[in-house]
Amino acid sequence: MNEFIADFDNPPIRIGTSSLKWGRYEGSGVIPLWVADMDFKSPPCVLNQAKISAEHGNFGYGRPPTGFAERIAQRSEKLYKWKIDPSWVVWLPGMVCALNVTCRTLLGESSQAIIQTPIYPPFLSASRNFGMPLAKVPLVLKKNRFTIDFDALSELKTNAGDLFMLCHPHNPVGTLFTENELRLLIEWSLKRNLYLCSDEIHCDLVLEKELRHIPPASLDQEIAERTITLMAPSKTFNIAGFGCSFAVIQNPALRVKFKKAAKGIVPDPPAMGFLLADAAYREGEPWRMELLKYLKGNRDFAMTQLSRMDGLLPHSPQATYLLWIDARSLPTSNPHQFFEENGVGLSDGRDFDAPGFLRLNLGCSRKLLKVALSRMKSACQKLSPQ
Ligand SMILES: Cc1ncc(COP(=O)(O)O)c(C=O)c1O
Repeated sequence: MNEFIADFDNPPIRIGTSSLKWGRYEGSGVIPLWVADMDFKSPPCVLNQAKISAEHGNFGYGRPPTGFAERIAQRSEKLYKWKIDPSWVVWLPGMVCALNVTCRTLLGESSQAIIQTPIYPPFLSASRNFGMPLAKVPLVLKKNRFTIDFDALSELKTNAGDLFMLCHPHNPVGTLFTENELRLLIEWSLKRNLYLCSDEIHCDLVLEKELRHIPPASLDQEIAERTITLMAPSKTFNIAGFGCSFAVIQNPALRVKFKKAAKGIVPDPPAMGFLLADAAYREGEPWRMELLKYLKGNRDFAMTQLSRMDGLLPHSPQATYLLWIDARSLPTSNPHQFFEENGVGLSDGRDFDAPGFLRLNLGCSRKLLKVALSRMKSACQKLSPQ
């Protein structure tokens, strides 16, 4: 690993830094592998920009740096072969807020939102926050990979104008949907005149070199006109705390509606958020490449260890730094609490509409991951002594 770019083995100590992830277990000794941020420092280009901004010392209202939307458009074409016009970009201070604004935008037009479970919890609440009914279609496990259940979708009752909320790559199962799967989903959506919201916050975290992230809006003009794509550098470059995200909305009428739904409620990202996001996209690529190698190493290590633990069935993520574990065979009624009591704080599957499952955050040093996994192993052995 190039230490000038990144030292993932030695992340900063986060105890006492007002960190959500570490604060939950402060003083308890529990290793926090739950909420989706990473323990690593952000790339040097981001840290450098943060220093410049701090030394400048003025923290007044912000606006996007000149040319930022254009740079996003160039990046999108280069990385995802998706041609977007900079005018399609709508700035947002976060993706949860974007999911909610999307539902607010389509209130009145959509008789329901459709999601695939298990799913990142705000997908379960966003439509309900606005009184919009929610249809849940479970993902299906095929060859040990969670994917879209097209049989279930074909039987689902929908009305024209309904909203399909896709998480791609998928949190928590880590699936990167293929071009073929996306084309089938597009065909199904168009036949039924649906709107598509595609949350692609994890799109730059594809762990397999041979796989490429494909935004559904890049595949078909007709669906692009009915799609709200959500993206952000926040997960990839570990700058979630600086709230800079964006929607890409090609259809001008839909874009106007979206902006109207956000007006007066949703602020713009802060100046520092814009500047850090721009720096990450402009200069963060070498760091991102190193990050992907490290995360892949963590994933492979964790998969090997978890597969050996009685009662656990881990699912290897193709993308994201999140690892989904089926713990339903573990002889305990509350696996989340069980591992917490044994020193490891994971995310509880119940929050994702999947009781008995757990989500493990791989965004930490290998050393810490090793300790957490050995605690999990000892805990499992206590339940089923060899
Ligand atoms: C799929 C997905 N969408 C949205 C978010 C949250 O984004 P934000 O922190 O910008 O609200 C997350 C965070 O884990 C996520 O995994």
